[in-house]
Amino acid sequence: MFATWSKTLYLGALLMGAVALDAQADSHPGEALAKVAGVTWPAVIAHRGASYDAPESTRAAYVLARELGADYLEMDLQRTRDGALVALHDVSLLRTTDVANKFPQRQDQPVSEFTLAELKTLDAGSWYNSANAPRARPTFAGLQILTLDEIIDIAEANPAHKPGLYIETKAPLLFPGIEHDLKAKLQARGWVTSANGVAAGHRLILQTFEKNSLQLLDKEMPAVPKVLLLWVGAGSIEPKNPQTFAQSGATSRAAYYASQAPKDRAEFERWLDFAKANGAAGTGPSAALTEGGDQSYMDLVQPWMNSMTHDKGLFVHVYTVDDPVDYQKVMAAGVDGIFTNRASELLKFYGRASSQSVGQILQAQGF
Ligand code: G3P
Ligand code: CA
Repeated sequence: MFATWSKTLYLGALLMGAVALDAQADSHPGEALAKVAGVTWPAVIAHRGASYDAPESTRAAYVLARELGADYLEMDLQRTRDGALVALHDVSLLRTTDVANKFPQRQDQPVSEFTLAELKTLDAGSWYNSANAPRARPTFAGLQILTLDEIIDIAEANPAHKPGLYIETKAPLLFPGIEHDLKAKLQARGWVTSANGVAAGHRLILQTFEKNSLQLLDKEMPAVPKVLLLWVGAGSIEPKNPQTFAQSGATSRAAYYASQAPKDRAEFERWLDFAKANGAAGTGPSAALTEGGDQSYMDLVQPWMNSMTHDKGLFVHVYTVDDPVDYQKVMAAGVDGIFTNRASELLKFYGRASSQSVGQILQAQGF
């Protein structure tokens, strides 16, 4: 089940861009590391679902990612005031819901201040139609915030293709004990065994930016693959240049982030060593994107970085890449999987295109 993407197709994709990497493709160090960890190689990680084509973290985005054939459904896990585990990227509800209309007095409160019943009244789809007119669909309006249970139901619903889950503890300092709650839910749903490993027939990866959360995830689920997400800045890898965005004079966040780099190789290596020593099987570094945009960050997938990571016994999953020119670039640099908002495009790049178009799938699934 791991080898649906062949080295031949990989080389074909690279050669189309005049990049020949026979030696690298024939002996990719990350492939063996991923397989030892029980992780698909190279991994297609549907970032917040197929979130280019449908509202992020909603049923439409996750069902579409599953039907396209993505390997993993990515989500950012938070917890409601009454203890339900839900998937939402932002701690604030303002960007992706109508909280300002439904709860005007509480619109600035974080997810953790709302009950699940309150969150379920919110429309998490209409913002997408407003922001993405060419891809808007009337059926996206009114889509709800999902619980982890509901995303597991989606992942399990198609016997012909059961994607894995790739779960991030988002802002875990706001949610003490969320690592334990997550284990309890995954065990109750049969995804994690009583011995705290991944249950047979399932694919599962846990991810976090927070060192402490990695340690807690490792304590709770030592035999589940884990990824330490990498970033340059406060609380993460120390930067070479400590200027803030405002101080930098950069014209965009993407330009600022692209100028940011680890203080030195030793600082980058310290984060790898921490990841390895605390149970991680891989790292999740950011990428600087050719076209910029609001998900273009620091280039932490330079070949030397990926080589150093592999030498430490860790695989590399880069976030968040959507264009073929960047797929090619990061694969040539040696990554082992890609977080993407455009699962349809990445699957095509890997030679695993769905036989159905995005539109056909959405329509067939009632969207
Ligand atoms: O989890 C990988 C990637 O999603 C990290 O960035 O901010 O989109 O969660 P973010
Ligand atoms: Ca995430």
